[in-house]
Amino acid sequence: MKLQDVFVAGGMPNVTYVDRNHLSLEKKFRTELMEGYKIVAITGPTKSGKTVLCRKVIPAKECIWIDGGQVESPDDFWTAIVRSLRLPTEETENISGSASFSWQAIIGIKSQITAGSIVKYPAPTKKEILTAMRLSNLTLVVDDFHYLSPAIQQEVVRSLKAEIFDGLIVVFIAVPHRAFDTISAEPEMEGRYAHITIPPWSIDDLLSIPEKGFPKLGMTVPDQTCKTMAAEALQSPLLMQRFCGRVCAYYEVTETIKPIRNFEPTNIILEDIYKEVVKQFGFPTFEKLAKGPQSRSKRNPRRLRDGSGSVDIYQAILMAVGKTGPKAKLHYDEIRDQLKDLLREADIPQKHEVSNALGHMESIAKEKIKGEPVLEWSSDYLYITDPFLRFFMKWSNIKDFSFEE
Ligand SMILES: Nc1ncnc2c1ncn2[C@@H]1O[C@H](COP(=O)(O)OP(=O)(O)O)[C@@H](O)[C@H]1O
Ligand SMILES: [Mg+2]
Repeated sequence: MKLQDVFVAGGMPNVTYVDRNHLSLEKKFRTELMEGYKIVAITGPTKSGKTVLCRKVIPAKECIWIDGGQVESPDDFWTAIVRSLRLPTEETENISGSASFSWQAIIGIKSQITAGSIVKYPAPTKKEILTAMRLSNLTLVVDDFHYLSPAIQQEVVRSLKAEIFDGLIVVFIAVPHRAFDTISAEPEMEGRYAHITIPPWSIDDLLSIPEKGFPKLGMTVPDQTCKTMAAEALQSPLLMQRFCGRVCAYYEVTETIKPIRNFEPTNIILEDIYKEVVKQFGFPTFEKLAKGPQSRSKRNPRRLRDGSGSVDIYQAILMAVGKTGPKAKLHYDEIRDQLKDLLREADIPQKHEVSNALGHMESIAKEKIKGEPVLEWSSDYLYITDPFLRFFMKWSNIKDFSFEE
C-alpha cells in the first residue's frame, strides 16, 4: 500500500477515515436524507470533515455536487448543475413518461452550453432541471454554500423550494451558522430544514488517524509521539493527517514495509515537521495579518529581548499570542504578559496600541481574508476561531515577514 493512499491530507481518506461513531454523524445525516423533503445543512469549523462526511454518506453517482466557490452568478449555478447532470442522449435513451419533457429541454440547454453560448435560466427552465434531478433520484449538494453571495443564496433557496416539497433532497455545506440566515428568512421553510453540526475533533478522535494508518504501512509509532502530534493538530484532522504523512516521509517510508518496524521521532524531528507544515498553511492568508494595514510608515520598530532584531507591533502581537499555546480565547492580560517577555522594556506597547492593532487585525480578517473571520477582538478578549491561524502563530517565523516594504 502506498503512503498517499493511507494518510490523505486535503482529499478523501479511505483507510484512515474516522467515523467518530460516538457522535453518530453518519447516522444522523442518513436519517435526515431518508426523511427527505428538506434542506439538510452541514456546518462545522473549517477543515473539520464536512466535505468528507458528505462524500462518505452520499455516493458520487447519486449526487450533483456544486462548489460554492465557483459560483459567481445565478446562471453559473444552473450551468454547473446542467454540466454535471448525467444526461441520456436523445438518440440512445428511450425517454418515457413524465420525465420526457424535462430531459428534452435540458438536453437542449446542455448543447447550448457545449456550443459555448451564454445560457439564461428562466424559472420554468430551472424547474425542469430540478424535476429532472428529482426523478433520477439525485441529491443536490452545494459545498461551501457560504461563498455564495446572499442574493444568490436567496435565489437558489427560492428556486429549490417547490421541488423540495415534491421530494428533491438538498444538502448545503457551510462554515458559519449564519450562512443559513437566508433559509430561515424564507417563508414556508420552517420545519423543512435540518441542521447537522460537526463538533471539534477530540484528541482521541485524532489519535484514530495514526492508529489506523501506521500499521497499514508496517510501522509502529509510540503512543506518546502520536499524542504529542494530536495536541499540536489543534483539533484539525487535516493537520493530523499531514503530520503522520510527514513522519513517514521523514523515514522514507513511501509504501508498506516488511517486516514491521518501530519508529520513534524525537521532539526535534517533530518540531521541524511542524515548521515545514506551517509554511503550507500560513501563506498567503495570515501573512496579511502579520503585515497589518497598508500605512506602515509611522510604525515603531520594537526590539526583541533576545537581541535577535526588531519587529513591528503586528508581528509582536502575533508572536506573543503564539507563545500562549495559543488558546482559542485569550484575555488582554495574557497577551500583555507575553509581550513583556518578548520585547525590551522600553518597546512594550501600551494597552491602547495593542487594542488598536488587534482592532485592525479584526478588520483585515473580515475584509481581506475569504470565509469566516479567523479572529475577533472584543471587550479585551481575543478569539481565534481558526485552528490554522493558531498553528500559524505558534510555528511560523513571523519575524521573517518583511518589516520594510
Ligand atoms: N472523518 C475523517 N477521518 C479522517 N480524516 C478526516 C476526516 N474528515 C476530515 N479529515 C481530514 O481533514 C481534511 C479536510 O476535510 P474536509 O472534509 O475537506 O473539511 P471541510 O469540508 O470541513 O473544510 C481531509 O482531507 C482529511 O485529511
Ligand atoms: Mg469542504
